[in-house]
Amino acid sequence: MSLLIKHGTIVTAVDQYVGDVFVEGEKVSTIGTALDIPADRVIDAAGKYLFPGGIDVHTHLDMPFGGTNSADDFESGTIAAAHGGTTSIVDFAIQFRGQTLHDAWETWMKKAEGKAAIDYGFHMIMTEVNDRIELEMDALVRQGITSFKLFMAYPGVFMLDDASIFKALMRTGRNGGTICMHAENGGVIDVLTKKALSEGKTAPKYHALTRPARAEAEATHRAIALAEIADVPIYIVHLSAAEALEMVTEARDRGVPAFAETCPQYLFLSYDNYEEPGFEGAKYVMSPPLRPKDTQDRLWRGLAFNDLQAISTDHCPFCMKEQKTLGEHDFSKIPNGAPGIETRMSLVYDGGVRTGRISLNRFVELTSTSPAKIFGLFPRKGTIAPGSDADIVVFDPEKRVRLSVTTLHMNVDYNPYEGREVVGAAETVISRGKVVVDGGQFVGRAGAGSFLKRSTRM
Ligand code: URP
Ligand code: ZN
Ligand code: ZN
Repeated sequence: MSLLIKHGTIVTAVDQYVGDVFVEGEKVSTIGTALDIPADRVIDAAGKYLFPGGIDVHTHLDMPFGGTNSADDFESGTIAAAHGGTTSIVDFAIQFRGQTLHDAWETWMKKAEGKAAIDYGFHMIMTEVNDRIELEMDALVRQGITSFKLFMAYPGVFMLDDASIFKALMRTGRNGGTICMHAENGGVIDVLTKKALSEGKTAPKYHALTRPARAEAEATHRAIALAEIADVPIYIVHLSAAEALEMVTEARDRGVPAFAETCPQYLFLSYDNYEEPGFEGAKYVMSPPLRPKDTQDRLWRGLAFNDLQAISTDHCPFCMKEQKTLGEHDFSKIPNGAPGIETRMSLVYDGGVRTGRISLNRFVELTSTSPAKIFGLFPRKGTIAPGSDADIVVFDPEKRVRLSVTTLHMNVDYNPYEGREVVGAAETVISRGKVVVDGGQFVGRAGAGSFLKRSTRM
């Protein structure tokens, strides 16, 4: 199978030029102007951008959480991702206490195999650290699971103490893995949650009011300090608070290899959403929570000036019906998470590039190149270059789309951006040389995605 994509504006993290891309099999073969090569299919991309496929390094498909499972499995979630211009995900496998990392990996491989429509890798969530687990970390790194998520929140479920965190960090100094940190002070949040509930404060907004920005900043500072002592890099996931960003900026200014991502929900939604009437605020119950509106500008500046290196989604959808309602009378029982795997590229293009907050190159860097580099996928993924996987998005910068649960493809009964109009959308999406979305229609195949064996950090 070969493809010739003609007259597109090719955009990478560093270049922007009009050209033709010839794809042979799964790889980009040749880039040039006026290429005249016979191909099985020719796509006219005049007036369109050609972006490297989006890479979403933070998704939770088919994940057990809070007594239920996230509503998208690897089939519906990856198809929705493809519609939005994402061609690779890194999802989170979970090692529950007493389990081996290997068992957890096998469980998540089974969830994805035969279902994923785009390529997928895994981070490993670890809920305990001991000698056996440390040895297993090394084995996992060799098998291409090169990053581990640890939690400083959710006591009794996911939370680790500082000694365990420090041991895991030290281990990555030897095996080349990367620790991804959920940075919120779980002890503080636990006390505030119990106090709120004892005062009869049960509405969704108390989820946010019991998770102060300073609790995120404290944990972010502590996580970076522990990594600095262990002399290893660290990656802070789903950073939401300006106070936490200050901790990352301060460390980076001192030359500490601290990296962080934020997510569209923190750039486009705010605490005000929790004040929506009735139980509507549950749509936005996620951790860390949405922050005051003025935080958004701070995060955009962080993205523009490289204090934040990636935009991922933390896609973790739960339906309002029968899932979010588990916490109808107690906000602490609302499953944490929201959908976003499909809307990331359009939202960030519309709200970032079109407004002039970030350049087109920076858009590509934040949504594809930099996540690929940090998580051991570059240059196979994250760019358009001869020899790279032909993961290419033909993106129409003029297309107007009204985001709505009625037209999006995620398997969830609401959308946090319902009714919002965005300009700029994926039109045709190519995953390893195969067209998977054609003029907005999914034409790929569940099971066509491959496991991504990732390298250690560069
Ligand atoms: O609320 C969230 N973020 N749910 C997913 C789990 C996590 O902590 O990333
Ligand atoms: Zn988290
Ligand atoms: Zn998450």
